[in-house]
Amino acid sequence: MPLTRLIVQQFRNIKACDIELSTGFNFIIGPNGSGKTSVLEAIYLLGHGRSFKSSLTGRVIQNDCQDLFVHGRFLNSDQFEIPVGINKQRDGSTEVKIGGQSGQKLAQLAKVLPLQLIHPEGFELLTDGPKFRRAFIDWGVFHSEPGFHEAWGRFKRLSKQRNALLKTATSYRELSYWDRDLAQLAEQIDNWRRCYVEQMQPLAEEMCLSFLPEFEIKLGYYRGWEKDTPYAEFLERNFERDQSLGYTFSGPNKADLRIKVNNTPVEDVLSRGQLKLMMCALRLAQGQHLAELTGKQCIYLIDDFASELDSLRRKRLADYLKQTKAQVFVSSITQSQVADMIGENGKMFHVEHGTIEPGK
Ligand SMILES: Nc1ncnc2c1ncn2[C@@H]1O[C@H](COP(=O)(O)OP(=O)(O)O)[C@@H](O)[C@H]1O
Ligand SMILES: [Mg+2]
Repeated sequence: MPLTRLIVQQFRNIKACDIELSTGFNFIIGPNGSGKTSVLEAIYLLGHGRSFKSSLTGRVIQNDCQDLFVHGRFLNSDQFEIPVGINKQRDGSTEVKIGGQSGQKLAQLAKVLPLQLIHPEGFELLTDGPKFRRAFIDWGVFHSEPGFHEAWGRFKRLSKQRNALLKTATSYRELSYWDRDLAQLAEQIDNWRRCYVEQMQPLAEEMCLSFLPEFEIKLGYYRGWEKDTPYAEFLERNFERDQSLGYTFSGPNKADLRIKVNNTPVEDVLSRGQLKLMMCALRLAQGQHLAELTGKQCIYLIDDFASELDSLRRKRLADYLKQTKAQVFVSSITQSQVADMIGENGKMFHVEHGTIEPGK
């Protein structure tokens, strides 16, 4: 669902910008500190309701301004242009508009704008805690299972209540009523996640192989608690442990995508450049899988394209992106670094001191 127009106001160093986009490649070119990442961050905020760089809205809103706006138009599956927009205030309040209607939910906006972000710090997906890989799995499940968002929200609310109850309960019986619902949700969430990983795994492993042919890369799903034990039974059995900890230790909130390279944890084997390639491979595979499964094409945001990739790998990534026919935003310091991607359906934008101008 490509964006055809982007309007950004009072967002980091961008005072105001209104640009017509290409449904293919959009190149964002400019020197350090000019505002390239901020353009991608604004698009990301439109699709996620938050920045990928800071969880504090106050950091993203332009200094001395009270709020920010990101508006756009995207093409729906019938090729109609639908306006979407988000407004965020310093107090954290958010207003979402879709098709001219205000009061819409962020999840609704996320549904129509599936985004994949590839940025220089993005290999936290591989090297940091499970929450990054859980978010990776859940992106796919969110876009392919309509019931997931609500179920996961309910699971998190019930877990919180259970944790509060753990602190006061004197016997497991006081929890068993709540655990029935919690366990049912956990099994459902686990099922969706497992199916998703199983489905996209061959594509992901194949993509990793094409970017890093010298390694054998294997993905595996970990559901967050021991195999072959129903969650209800597991909760009951671990009541005393959870009670002494003061929270539920295991469950879908601990799920992970386990990644092994030549049977060893990734960070022990791959260099930074290789980690970046693998992160790219996983994100591209996920985007391709979504397109194959649902017909929805995601938008790729690629920040600092050239960083840490040699010319051969840059070309491989460029060739792959070209053949996806997806909308792609690529930021780079010089035009020559993106030369491999420039084709017929591309637009160039030059950024300087927060001003974005269409260029040649
Ligand atoms: N809240 C803000 N208000 C105004 N300017 C900001 C704000 N946050 C960051 N900046 C500035 O915006 C500029 C653009 O940063 P960025 O988009 O990361 O540049 P680039 O990716 O082109 O190197 C930086 O110079 C930064 O200091
Ligand atoms: Mg940048």
